[in-house]
Amino acid sequence: MLQGIQAIIADDDEMSLEMLSSTLRWQGVQCTAATNGREVLTALESRPHTDIVLLDIQMPVMDGFEVLSQCKGNPCLSNIPVIALAANHDEKLKSLKLGADDFLAKPYDPEELELRICKLVQSRRLAQSSQKAKKNFLAIASHELRTPMAQIMGLTDMLDDEHIGNEQREIISLLKHATGGLTSVISDILNYAQLDHGALSTLDLFSLRGVIAAVLGIQTVKAEKKGIRLELNMVDEISDILIGPSFFVQKVFSILLDNAIKFTTKGEIRVTVREEYLSKHNSRFYCSVSDPGIGIPAEFHNKIFEPFVQVDSSTTRNFDGIGLGLALAKRMVEQMGGTIGVTNSEDQGSCLDFSFCCDLHESFGVNPA
Ligand SMILES: Nc1ncnc2c1ncn2[C@@H]1O[C@H](COP(=O)(O)OP(=O)(O)O)[C@@H](O)[C@H]1O
Ligand SMILES: [Mg+2]
Repeated sequence: MLQGIQAIIADDDEMSLEMLSSTLRWQGVQCTAATNGREVLTALESRPHTDIVLLDIQMPVMDGFEVLSQCKGNPCLSNIPVIALAANHDEKLKSLKLGADDFLAKPYDPEELELRICKLVQSRRLAQSSQKAKKNFLAIASHELRTPMAQIMGLTDMLDDEHIGNEQREIISLLKHATGGLTSVISDILNYAQLDHGALSTLDLFSLRGVIAAVLGIQTVKAEKKGIRLELNMVDEISDILIGPSFFVQKVFSILLDNAIKFTTKGEIRVTVREEYLSKHNSRFYCSVSDPGIGIPAEFHNKIFEPFVQVDSSTTRNFDGIGLGLALAKRMVEQMGGTIGVTNSEDQGSCLDFSFCCDLHESFGVNPA
């Protein structure tokens, strides 16, 4: 039943450790022994495929409580199941509070221990395989949906020839509007689903100016169609070459500009970018997108960052969208160590502020000494 499981067994009592290890080894478990908490953490670092940790609580150097709080507070280790081997009721309670997945009171029954190990390892493997299946499904769905949409948009553009009549031009314009709307809905749904799997947060070396210029280039075309101007306010000295998830940065600016243009009929939309140096190696960027549009009622200032929440959610509303943009933006800035919020009141239009942190590429940016 336990064949092939990789376990770390920690106990400062060498006799108990030896007994437990040999019982489990006999059943096919690959055991790594530790006699204190620090050895458990070192073993976890070098064995990323550990299936379970059996953790004595009272140990010298570092006790089981400290191991639990370090493991459960670390996103890379938190999903490795830990069974606390507790000597009394207080230890049992405290370990559960610190995130232990199960406990056994000492002295424990070896058969019960075996059953508990099996249950935890199996449920973790089940969860991992369904996560993997979901990730694969999303990757395939993403490809299968985005590819034909891109083809439809490309082909529609090809039809938009100067020799066509007014009626066809009108139809093509409607077709473009509908495919554009559908593409952005599909993209928001897929991005939102994929965020959980870290699929989009790849770090790369990018130019902040380049990303902002690319977003503004696309959005300016949309804004000009409505007679709206876009203005960028960013100092020349800003660190430009950054290391971070450039897709997130680009996406957050796009989402906020999309909204600003959608909910504004005239005037100027302003984008500001400011930098705060956190150290020689990283900075926090404070950005805002403000518009003179319809504004956001105060009671919606927090709610609009929840998925599917829109100020006007009636089916007869004038605006496209399904209410995922700001929820996506919030999750992305939070993953970059930042925050997002609304600052303006209803009658002044809207101002969306957000921040994010990025590492600086020292050989490029104009960074302080
Ligand atoms: N700049 C803005 N001006 C006015 N309302 C806004 C603005 N940005 C967002 N909102 C409100 O927040 C809601 C949620 O925005 P979002 O999550 O991007 O969804 P969607 O744009 O698909 O409706 C919008 O439907 C709108 O009611
Ligand atoms: Mg939106």
